[in-house]
Amino acid sequence: MNLYHPVNIGSLSLPGNLFLAPVAGYTGRAYRSLCIDEGADFSFTELISAESVIRGRPDMKPMDDPSPVSVLLRRADNEKHYAIQLFGAESERMAAGAALLARWKPAVVDINGGCPVPKVIKTGAGSALMKNPDNLGRVVEAMVRASQEHLGGVPVTIKIRSGWDNGSINYRECARIAVESGAAMVSLHPRTRAQGYGGKSDWSLIADLASRLPVPVTGSGDLYTPEDAERMLRETGCAAVMFARGAMGNPFIFSTTRAFLTTGSYTPPGAAARIAIGFRHLERLAADIGEKPACLEMRKHFCAYTKGSKGTQGTAGGAGLRNKLVHAASIEDYRLLLHDIS
Ligand SMILES: Cc1cc2nc3c(=O)[nH]c(=O)nc-3n(C[C@H](O)[C@H](O)[C@H](O)COP(=O)(O)O)c2cc1C
Repeated sequence: MNLYHPVNIGSLSLPGNLFLAPVAGYTGRAYRSLCIDEGADFSFTELISAESVIRGRPDMKPMDDPSPVSVLLRRADNEKHYAIQLFGAESERMAAGAALLARWKPAVVDINGGCPVPKVIKTGAGSALMKNPDNLGRVVEAMVRASQEHLGGVPVTIKIRSGWDNGSINYRECARIAVESGAAMVSLHPRTRAQGYGGKSDWSLIADLASRLPVPVTGSGDLYTPEDAERMLRETGCAAVMFARGAMGNPFIFSTTRAFLTTGSYTPPGAAARIAIGFRHLERLAADIGEKPACLEMRKHFCAYTKGSKGTQGTAGGAGLRNKLVHAASIEDYRLLLHDIS
């Protein structure tokens, strides 16, 4: 079977199965738009607190609202479909947050059941949702109801880990309860909360879940190259893959993976193309949040765009260049540092 194929998430039909994962601090509107340009079939906002949505500015039009939560929630201009990912622990608060999403018109509302960050789990949200599968089910059920009442019934989905730690691997139970409660897709990052982002993700758990669930399973974990994506799709039978760290500094991962899946070969982007798309990123981010904050935020992104590039401007190599990039504060600084990379 062709490994690149359409995916249906409930009532939503997507043309393909290459998704951009939610990555806090990286997958903002500007970056998502570059991934869409490069062929991402679906994209997620980073995790956004349901409480911050509730405290937001429902009186304002999205584009006139400069509050940080509104900036996080906005769809990119070229983003035909996107998912807004919410986090929270309490079903009625999550439903109240979801009910307020109508003005952003998400195609999907996704629930974060995987975040390992202490600030999030101490509230019972993120991966801590998996410690109490019954509550996780109530959250899904309440969100589905909120979607039916306020969002035209868009699908509700959930992203989980394999479990809290090695002693409590309960992705099967959490996924089953989520689907019984109305989830239309489950994304699985098969590491435990205790593993954080270290070690290797266990793709055999993705295969296990994909063989059990009546809804699409999206696989996440250690996807850095088109070959990785091909192998995950082939070995696990998951419906879709989502790129996370492998997409940082490399929006081309979508076009190259699609080429690889459909033709068997691809041309990796050169250093100059990566720098050029980095400047497009900077331009779009500056249009959203202003030039100065955009230049500061782009430091980490340009470090990603130049990973593997030789140094320039008399710097010793890639690391030397990145030491300079983390001090750049203007578009001119970036131009001077990056003009002769090829
Ligand atoms: C810095 C960082 C931020 C992340 N933020 C989110 C998030 O907001 N929501 C989420 O569901 N997963 C988040 N993730 C998890 C990724 O979506 C993905 O599941 C994980 O990184 C495994 O994929 P990878 O090994 O290919 O990077 C984050 C991961 C990283 C490294």
